Amino acid sequence: MKIRFTTSLMLAAFVCATMNAQSTEQLLLSGWRFEKGAHAGAESTTYNDTKWQQVTIPHDWAISGPFDKEIDKQVVAIVQNGEKEATEKTGRSGSLPWIGEGWYRTTITIPEGYSHAELVFDGAMAEPRVYIDGKEVGYWAFGYNTFKLDISDALPRDRSVEGKLIPGEHTLAVHLQNVEESSRWYPGAGLYRPVRLVLGQAVGLETWGTFARTTRLDEVNANGTAARRALLTVNAKVRKHDVIKGNYSIVHKLVDAQGRQVASVNTSINESYETCQVIPVADAALWSPEHPVLYTLVTELLDGDKLIDRSEIKTGLRLTEYTAEGFKLNGQIRKFKGVCLHHDMGPVGAAFNKAAFRRQVRLLQEIGCDAIRTSHNMPAPWQMDICDEMGMLVMAESCDMWVYPKCKNGYARFFEQVDTESPNADGRAWWERDFENLVLAHRNHPSIVMWSIGNEIPDQSSATGLKYTRKLQNLIHSLDPTRPCTQGNDNIGGAIWSGVLSATEIPGFNYRVQQYEKGLAASPRGFILGSETASTVSSRGVYHFPVVERHGVAEDAMPDGQVSSYDLQSCIWSNIPDDDWMWQDKAPWVIGEFVWTGFDYLGEPTPYDEYWPSRSSYFGIYDLAGLPKDRAWLYRTHWAPEKETIHLLPHWNWQGREGEITPVFCYTNYPEAELFVNGKSQGRRRHIDLSLEDYKALMTDVKTPWGEMAKFADPDAPQGKNRLDRYRMRWMDVKYEPGEVKVVAYDAQGNKAAERVVRTAGKPHHIELVADRNTLTVLPVDDSGKALDTPDLSFVTVRVVDKDGNLCPAASNQLSFAVKGASARFNSCCNGDATSTEVFTSPTMKAFNGQLVVVVEATATPGQATLTVTAPGLKKAVLPITIK
Ligand code: GAL
Repeated sequence: MKIRFTTSLMLAAFVCATMNAQSTEQLLLSGWRFEKGAHAGAESTTYNDTKWQQVTIPHDWAISGPFDKEIDKQVVAIVQNGEKEATEKTGRSGSLPWIGEGWYRTTITIPEGYSHAELVFDGAMAEPRVYIDGKEVGYWAFGYNTFKLDISDALPRDRSVEGKLIPGEHTLAVHLQNVEESSRWYPGAGLYRPVRLVLGQAVGLETWGTFARTTRLDEVNANGTAARRALLTVNAKVRKHDVIKGNYSIVHKLVDAQGRQVASVNTSINESYETCQVIPVADAALWSPEHPVLYTLVTELLDGDKLIDRSEIKTGLRLTEYTAEGFKLNGQIRKFKGVCLHHDMGPVGAAFNKAAFRRQVRLLQEIGCDAIRTSHNMPAPWQMDICDEMGMLVMAESCDMWVYPKCKNGYARFFEQVDTESPNADGRAWWERDFENLVLAHRNHPSIVMWSIGNEIPDQSSATGLKYTRKLQNLIHSLDPTRPCTQGNDNIGGAIWSGVLSATEIPGFNYRVQQYEKGLAASPRGFILGSETASTVSSRGVYHFPVVERHGVAEDAMPDGQVSSYDLQSCIWSNIPDDDWMWQDKAPWVIGEFVWTGFDYLGEPTPYDEYWPSRSSYFGIYDLAGLPKDRAWLYRTHWAPEKETIHLLPHWNWQGREGEITPVFCYTNYPEAELFVNGKSQGRRRHIDLSLEDYKALMTDVKTPWGEMAKFADPDAPQGKNRLDRYRMRWMDVKYEPGEVKVVAYDAQGNKAAERVVRTAGKPHHIELVADRNTLTVLPVDDSGKALDTPDLSFVTVRVVDKDGNLCPAASNQLSFAVKGASARFNSCCNGDATSTEVFTSPTMKAFNGQLVVVVEATATPGQATLTVTAPGLKKAVLPITIK
């Protein structure tokens, strides 16, 4: 009897302790089984999945290929490119096997002591239908959105223990389907972002219910890094399955980067179960790209003085203003030096990896870029965390179409559709649910400074466009009154006519620089944004002659499927960077730009939409492997004038072109430079200034495929009036002779400041390896070996060089890769050649113009690993990598 009494006492004590277990989050990354195709009954607990592939997520089922022309062959007219007739197009969505159905299965564990369970999907491609133990618990149409599903009612409860969920294991199954012609680029496929299981109590802090934003800064210092006082306004929301019986209150504590608590407030909960508090922060350190200072906001839910729930979010103190004076961050005017990014990360695919994205940010910051547009879809939460940490301003975009489709099965299928069947249907159209989740899931990120309600929405020139511009902006501001909305307009006349342009809070122009002034006049805002600029095309290390400026599409196709890297070719709807910079530099009312694109991406191989095997873009400042094209240095001279840049192009291996005109360009931040070929001076060049008036006076008219007249700057404008001489130094008459080409740069005082030499390389001799990071972090795992993060990655640049170490610029050696050691494994490789059909996940690939990138992945075992790269006839290279 005594013993039994003690046992029940102990049990009661345990129940009390566990009853109040605060919310926890399990990252469901490991232990998944995956199989492509339709599999009847795969949602059931008894389904035998032992033959399915074992995978960890984020996972992209299509990235391993093979590339196949037939996968996304379409006979279409690309309307937004001005095409009227349908022709056969290939590679538009990457030619990887992303179309079709797929299933993922895993087991989730409900531990003792919880009464609420929800699943949070950061995104799933596409149309995820989610099952627990064979029963459907929810569906989401848009593959890019973050969504949560309350699964508490699908799990067994023990009514005798205060309605707690019965501890145990359950089958989680997810069905996905990707239909053809649903994307204008490579969307990836599968559970390409994490899935989280959030456990808590019936009364707890609601997921996405806390909203922290800076509402005031007093006495900001001269460089915008600190304020005497900041006000952080915070809302918190309490989730309740039952009537709230306790004496509940919310406490917010703000902790600075050094771990010191700098503020704290306490509020009782009102009948709406929401609180709003203003937290004054003295001597506030402000967030900006240059100083990405983050605070931690701890939110506690108390019943009396008993802690019921607790959450932590990162927040940054910063204020934005958009005025006729320009965009201001913490009172400082700055222009967006931004890029558009599709979500794939080259060979890593759409599966989100933190190390791969951090590398993208590092490469962009290296050239002075400070902003990202998540074109054309909703960001990944981890991506936004990294932008907060590393200091990137973000235009968080939503979608590429509303009611009118741009591709047969695109998001327009869902936009106005009301789901009536799924267990989580709530009677609202998808546009409402999608935009609500976008804002709720992401509004705490200091990096996000504007929302984009859409990209080149065909409805922009109609009453429907105006209706949704208003509705979407209103919906967003009901959830976040602090950030304005933009959209990328490409039909400026239509958007002015429909009222869309003047209704849009940040009038966004995709290209159409020649219409900036017209748009400014038609908008009440007093400023405009280059929401998408350039679309200049080039292939790394490829140079075509003669060197001429071109604005075209198919007619400029060359037999090699590549585009010249003299950075003089754009599309008929776009322009080269020099044109954007006339406006960015000279018109104070242009608040910045987002270049199309920072990195090449899979799909949209313009201008080779009809050329197989082109399967990825030519738009990137960096290629698909993340190797810089010449344009990276051109942007660096403009975006980071404080950094020394001195870059020469082309390479100097032109056997067969001896005596022929081979122009040489130098991209430098020095004002003047002299070029020498084998010691013979080719003359000095100086950067020029040019007024907007003089620039506008020298234009030529070109009729666009959509019937408008486009104006392009005259590429042959005379010396002193040519916008190409503002950021480039050009020696157009150089005759090729093998040897050495050298540029000597002079500073503003006329002193010799730096030089750069490019030599004719000899035969390929050996391999050089340069890792972006030689030391990786071991994959963190829990006690049962389950991954708690995405694996760390090293991106190793492989260079084929001659005996003296000069890059062999035409080398295409077949290289093979071997990673040895339990601490690392081969992940993927990529050479940046848009016409390559070699798969990324096989450990062999041809060098493209002498280079490629191998990706090495850390495992959960600390230690030493090596990457060995070999090729027939070349001296191999071995690179040690430390994993700790
Ligand atoms: C834009 C469009 C982008 C991409 C780009 C290529 O008009 O918004 O998604 O297609 O053109 O130049």
